[in-house]
Amino acid sequence: MRISVTGGEALQLETPLLVLFGGDGAQLPDSVRDLVEDGDWSGGYRKTLLIYPRAALPARRILLIGLGKLDQISTDRLRELAAVAAQQARDLKVERFTIGLPALSEIGAFGTAQAVAEGAALGLYRFDTYKSSADAYVIDDLEIIADPEATDQASKGAALGEIVARGAALARDLANQPGNVLVPAGLAEVAEQIGARFGMDILVLGMEELTAQGFGGIVGVGKGSANPPRFIVMEHGVQHKGSAPTICLVGKGITFDTGGISIKPADSMELMKMDMGGAAAVLGTMQAVGELQLPLHVVGLIASAENMPSSTSYKPGDILKTLSGKTIEVINTDAEGRIVLADALFYAQRYEPAAIIDLATLTGAITVALGSHATGIMSNNDELARRILESGEASGERAWQMPLWEPYREMVKSDIADVKNSTGRLGGAITAGAFLHNFVGDYPWVHMDIAGTAWTDAKPRAYTPKGATGVGVRLLIQLLRDWAA
Ligand code: BES
Ligand code: MN
Ligand code: ZN
Repeated sequence: MRISVTGGEALQLETPLLVLFGGDGAQLPDSVRDLVEDGDWSGGYRKTLLIYPRAALPARRILLIGLGKLDQISTDRLRELAAVAAQQARDLKVERFTIGLPALSEIGAFGTAQAVAEGAALGLYRFDTYKSSADAYVIDDLEIIADPEATDQASKGAALGEIVARGAALARDLANQPGNVLVPAGLAEVAEQIGARFGMDILVLGMEELTAQGFGGIVGVGKGSANPPRFIVMEHGVQHKGSAPTICLVGKGITFDTGGISIKPADSMELMKMDMGGAAAVLGTMQAVGELQLPLHVVGLIASAENMPSSTSYKPGDILKTLSGKTIEVINTDAEGRIVLADALFYAQRYEPAAIIDLATLTGAITVALGSHATGIMSNNDELARRILESGEASGERAWQMPLWEPYREMVKSDIADVKNSTGRLGGAITAGAFLHNFVGDYPWVHMDIAGTAWTDAKPRAYTPKGATGVGVRLLIQLLRDWAA
């Protein structure tokens, strides 16, 4: 779908469908109110009313959509409403539609247009690659009509919204792909394509190099599979190195997690095709960073493997020597994410980064703690944690911080190796974070456990349809743009 922004008066346009926001924050124009039966329209949040103006106005249809109470209007609500409108447009099978941008002084034309473009694009996302009778119907164009005074701001906002939504859609596509299609080598190919498009430096290490160079964590987890592991490095903005901060984004890329020898129960195991949601978020973000040409040195690092049980698999009791030289006692082969991340986090230190941010579908425990409405974060640096929490609020991808106090760090110490990879159920999300802490040195670091937020079955929002959510992309782009500003 192409999105364009024009300045003008929405009510004067000829269009198959005009979407107008109404409610406390945006009174309906008289010519529209005249078409509505008293009592049919409340303007309540998410309420809609479809009207056929016939000869009264040039639009064939008008969809009223309720903004709700003035003091509750937010970019997140705008994103949701735009998604509801776009889905209705699709149901009506119009080839194009028009949205009249509400004038919301608190949010401004840039933020309003960004949220509307983002929400419409995210709401229309579908993953139907494998449906032999997929609905071929697509909406070609969305025209956003802005106040002529604010057209420039609105255009820029909508352009950003489109880029963000494209990044999130890439992350969703990757996490939705089944494990037989997307293997570690496939993630590397996607990285190479993004690198070629935006002039990034790409490095991919395969089994031989990983073994020779001492990536004992990634090799240990990956060696049980016929689909060999990869370590992927993507570097954007090398020319900004030194003059602008270096930010490392690290993604867990387990393309399928059976649990290995400590095998998972069959129930819901199919969901473990999304255990590369962290890697997907890094790839989606790197694509957006490239499109935006952000003046930062951003390094994407992906540790990718398939966790399988076989005669060549690693086993409980094994001791692995990681890239850092530190050793890991394997208690449970299903706690594989922290093992591959150990190598990637240590590798990140060579860039002397201002921040290391890892994203991982790491623990079931975080889903018990926070459910699906917030990503759990852990950090060794309050300032960086604060930035992440604020970016989460601003982007509508909320995060909540868990402690990493000394007693938790004690829990991951092993009797016979430096650390052990499992400590049992208690504080399971935090002990996973405490494990990772051993591999970041003194660099500012935030760990984001997205196990609860990377996937949705329930359909809590119109802009996140069932399946992979692409979580992380919106938050990271917000963070990186703020950092570059
Ligand atoms: N990939 C899983 C975590 C997960 C669970 C992601 C649910 C998404 C939804 C991870 O590798 C795992 O298996 N973690 C174990 C750790 C345990 C063995 C210490 C867990 O959470 O049970
Ligand atoms: Mn696992
Ligand atoms: Zn896993």
